[in-house]
Amino acid sequence: MKEETQGVDLGLRKFIKELGFITGGTSLLATAPWLSSCTPEKLEEIKSEKKARVAVIGTGSRGQYHIHNLKNIPHAELVALCDIYQPNLETALALCPGAKTYTDYRRLLEDKDIDGVIITTPLHLHAPITLDALSAGKHVFCEKAMARTIEECRAVYDAYTKTDKVLYFCMQRMYDEKYIKAMQLIGAGLIGDIVGMRCHWFRNADWRRPVPSPELERHINWRLYKEYSGGLMTELGTHQIEVCNWATHMIPTTICGQGGIVHWKDGREVYDSVNVSYRYSDGRIITYESLISNKFNGMEEQILGSKGTIDLAKGVYYLEEDNMISGMRQLLDQVKTGVFAAIPTAGPSWKPELKSAYVPHPVVEGGFSVVGGESMIGAAQDGSDAILSAFCQSCITGEKAKDVVEEAYYSTVLCLLGNTAMEENRVITFPEEYKIPYMKF
Ligand SMILES: NC(=O)c1ccc[n+]([C@@H]2O[C@H](COP(=O)([O-])OP(=O)(O)OC[C@H]3O[C@@H](n4cnc5c(N)ncnc54)[C@H](O)[C@@H]3O)[C@@H](O)[C@H]2O)c1
Repeated sequence: MKEETQGVDLGLRKFIKELGFITGGTSLLATAPWLSSCTPEKLEEIKSEKKARVAVIGTGSRGQYHIHNLKNIPHAELVALCDIYQPNLETALALCPGAKTYTDYRRLLEDKDIDGVIITTPLHLHAPITLDALSAGKHVFCEKAMARTIEECRAVYDAYTKTDKVLYFCMQRMYDEKYIKAMQLIGAGLIGDIVGMRCHWFRNADWRRPVPSPELERHINWRLYKEYSGGLMTELGTHQIEVCNWATHMIPTTICGQGGIVHWKDGREVYDSVNVSYRYSDGRIITYESLISNKFNGMEEQILGSKGTIDLAKGVYYLEEDNMISGMRQLLDQVKTGVFAAIPTAGPSWKPELKSAYVPHPVVEGGFSVVGGESMIGAAQDGSDAILSAFCQSCITGEKAKDVVEEAYYSTVLCLLGNTAMEENRVITFPEEYKIPYMKF
């Protein structure tokens, strides 16, 4: 337990300290300004103070995942739990036996012993509970996506601008070492000019959970129904669209796409296949795809540059010049072994476009974990523990994390607009009334 505690906290703090020196030209805070609220020095200052007293609302799979992470955060104390579904509440209570339990989150919000709440309910409840919690004077850490509708996103953002409470959305890539380092490398010019982005998340699993009795179908399988969920775009796309905006420092202006229920025709309402295109005003395009009936392509977030490519999800980069060298090497090898003679049109540009010819370079040395493609809970060491730790620190200091809400806002609104574009089969221009003062279009 002691070692794990050090693992979460010291790992992140050490990383923040070291990051500032990695790429020389690009400062850490320009790349990830939100880290300024959780520096090692600030953590040192609060060490002697009280712990953040936090509660989890929605104790299903992601809620339980955060409960496990909270145990490893020394400046956090989990004091209460809330769920309307007794089996999940009991499982969570078994993980932290001393916690108070509630079945109505409004009663929990009246509890003066709670500093902050962690909201891990289905998507349609994110905005109502966040707004109630901020009104009740609680700090809030809410799971992504920000809200079920763009109107709710705007309401949450407006409330955030008026409150002195801290608000986080669990966009864990913003706190993931390999993403931050990759963004620094992009900022330092490693891959040249960003010319496009290709992101996808492919799985082969139906997204269904077993239901103990039929009347619980919509409660347990909320992801499959539009009343509660925005489907693949809000569940998966939000993370990936966010990193594209983070890389370009821009927000796309037009959105179009197509989607459908291709394979899992089991009564669900949300698409199991989506293909959305986001275009920035300077012409750059994000090609976004997700499919849950074939996992061949896995999860990738490719930032394509004039001099190379970074795959943020894999934590590797490829340089165009490596490809040339590699292509030439192959050519020379073929000449040596005599195979060359059998290829009639071979020349110096022999298949240099083959993806397999690129040399992968790790963004971060050492092991890291990548989402395998099946989990609805999350991956280990993907930044989720770090962002939760930062939230708990903010509960004590009262310091907001710069840009976290704004990043969550735009990625969620863009994903919801992607759904509308697919459903109505039209090109959408980002609506003026949903623009906030953050980044340029
Ligand atoms: N950041 C990530 O990588 C990541 C990963 C997984 C899930 N999530 C998000 O976490 C959230 C929860 O997902 P999940 O898979 O844990 O869902 P889940 O269905 O396993 O858990 C949701 C819980 O909320 C409870 N709940 C429903 N209505 C409630 C209410 N009115 N008051 C209190 N509790 C209520 C349910 O009973 C359930 O226990 C979703 O928004 C999902 O998108 C994020």
